[in-house]
Amino acid sequence: MCEPRGKRLRRGGSYNRRVPIELEENVALRALNAFGVDARARYFARVRSAADLAMLEDDPRLRGVPRLILGGGSNILFTRDVDGLVVKVDVPGMREVGDDGRAWFVEVGAGENWHATVQRLLDADRPGLENLALIPGQAGAAPIQNIGAYGLELAERFHALAAWDVEARDVVTMSPADCNFGYRDSAFKSTFAGRRVILSVTLALPKRWTPVTGYADVANELKARGIAAPTARDIFDAVCAIRRRKLPDPAAIGNAGSFFKNPIVTREQHHALLAHHPSLVSYPMPGGRFKLAAGWLIDAAGLKGATRGRAGVYEKQALVLVNRGGATGAEILALAREVQDKVREKFGVLLEPEPVIV
Ligand code: EPU
Repeated sequence: MCEPRGKRLRRGGSYNRRVPIELEENVALRALNAFGVDARARYFARVRSAADLAMLEDDPRLRGVPRLILGGGSNILFTRDVDGLVVKVDVPGMREVGDDGRAWFVEVGAGENWHATVQRLLDADRPGLENLALIPGQAGAAPIQNIGAYGLELAERFHALAAWDVEARDVVTMSPADCNFGYRDSAFKSTFAGRRVILSVTLALPKRWTPVTGYADVANELKARGIAAPTARDIFDAVCAIRRRKLPDPAAIGNAGSFFKNPIVTREQHHALLAHHPSLVSYPMPGGRFKLAAGWLIDAAGLKGATRGRAGVYEKQALVLVNRGGATGAEILALAREVQDKVREKFGVLLEPEPVIV
């Protein structure tokens, strides 16, 4: 069952390797963003450690040059070239670093692929992330938008992280409170935007695992499979099946998952909307507010499956905008604006984009 500490989970290098860093110029970003749009970076560097980041800070060619931090590129829309330095975070590694009686702590390099991490932990008898299977992107990006799906958010499995602080020029450790997690939100989107580069994330995986099956899609999928007492592997398989049915694979159709957050409205707004649209999909939130299913709003505004040029609204899930082949970032952004306008006209609700728009 449980391997000696770190045995099966140890891989990759140290976070402090010091090898000369290569600075490339005029680099194509198409293969590095899940929308698959064309954009170029004036400067480009891959970093594998804090030492690499320190070296970039010292490079005279980069004095005063703005930086953009890139992880797996699965939550970003490039609408123009980047006249600055794109830093691709490639910090490798995974190792078990301890436990506190209730949870195992596993430190994962920011550059590790998220889904591969979920899979490896499951294989090593460290379940707890199965509801977050198949989310595209890297482990280091997970805290930035507090990734969530099928009844679970990263914040519930987060212990700490290590980040490079650009001003202090040093590595800092951050607790859950420091990260200030919210729905698809964290301090990395506000207070620390552009100021901290995540190097590794330490996950807390519960020693007494219990299934998270409250989300209707998961409960229905398990029922359809005749599973009453699911294992973590059953949930992993169910979530993968649901996602494969509903969400386009970025390797086949360019997309960044949900393009908008599900908007949160007051009780009064919710009441008024429901009076006019009885089939509105919504979920009660703490404090009396309601979260609306943005996919339902876009669908009800008649935009599901819409095509504008080479950009589109995905046929099977209206919350996802797609690159139907060769779309520019500007085309996708124009479609996003149209979606926002139509939803605001029909429902009086503003949809806020989820990805970073450059
Ligand atoms: N709906 C429609 N029409 C559509 C799409 C959805 O009527 O075209 C309705 C569905 O029938 C359902 C409701 O809207 O009743 C919610 O849909 P779904 O369960 O697919 O979830 P979602 O709210 O659209 C959120 C996350 C997803 C996550 C799923 C499952 C956000 C912005 N999105 O989507 O996350 O996978 O729940 O937990 O919170 C992502 O962030 O990239 C992402 C894919």
